[in-house]
Amino acid sequence: MPSPNAAVLLDVRRLTKIYTTGFLKTVSVVGCQDVSFLVERGEIVALLGESGSGKTTVANLILRIFRPTSGEILLAGKDVFSYPPRVYYAKVQQIFQDPYAAFNYFYRVDRVLHRALTFKHQRLASAERRERIMEVLDIVGLNPSEVLGRYPHQLSGGQLQRLLIARALLIEPDLVVADEPTSMIDASSRAGILNHLFDLKDRGIAILFITHDVGQAAYIADKAVVMHKGKVVEQGPASQVLFSPTHPYVQRLLSDVPKLREKWDFSRELEGAALFKDQPR
Ligand SMILES: Nc1ncnc2c1ncn2[C@@H]1O[C@H](COP(=O)(O)OP(=O)(O)O)[C@@H](O)[C@H]1O
Ligand SMILES: [Mg+2]
Repeated sequence: MPSPNAAVLLDVRRLTKIYTTGFLKTVSVVGCQDVSFLVERGEIVALLGESGSGKTTVANLILRIFRPTSGEILLAGKDVFSYPPRVYYAKVQQIFQDPYAAFNYFYRVDRVLHRALTFKHQRLASAERRERIMEVLDIVGLNPSEVLGRYPHQLSGGQLQRLLIARALLIEPDLVVADEPTSMIDASSRAGILNHLFDLKDRGIAILFITHDVGQAAYIADKAVVMHKGKVVEQGPASQVLFSPTHPYVQRLLSDVPKLREKWDFSRELEGAALFKDQPR
């Protein structure tokens, strides 16, 4: 057996998930097929693909929500299912697509932070708890007086998502799986959320950043793994995969991104204006 590479945190090996659904007649749906990639400690890996390509299936397998049909996932060289749940979820955490769904509406949001601290450090004096919470709120740019003591419905999606990043900072896992963490956030808060993911990286936390957005992947990721119809079609350094893709699917994904650096063709705009001029008012 080859000696384990200490830099490798997550080793996804030939992962396949076939869903079987149906009531009278069983139907098999491929969730993901033969998916392999590595996440090294402290790096951001983008798992990129259009809707239905199998990204959430891979995320849920890593989060142990269900077992793979075949293949395996190793965390620090050991099968993920060999870890007791408490140990595993101290190492692997999730940031949800829908921050509203991650909070219990009956409790103030502080509870999520306190529970995270209890999860990580069983005994911590209340002054120290407060200090740790203030520190992480400051990192994610939240004003304590605007969020502490509030209920989830009193906060915006962007604020709740920042709280979840603060929660991850308190737990200090080795890996955060972030499945489309900006898709339900208003556009003005998106860049902030992406930037705060870098705060996790600064603490040595690796991130599997799941997105259908090539721009976000290019902005944030060290490495990109592109999925299409359940399979990995291309992977490598983000700059290489996203800026000079070889696979036609990635080229098509890229061509859908607005080209910010390209000069606007005003003559085409004038053509349009001319067309309007001929329209009866
Ligand atoms: N629980 C499920 N039961 C049956 N099919 C599913 C289930 N979850 C996902 N699928 C199917 O698996 C494929 C991949 O879905 P998913 O992993 O959610 O993709 P993505 O996150 O990239 O949009 C899709 O065809 C989807 O319909
Ligand atoms: Mg998904």
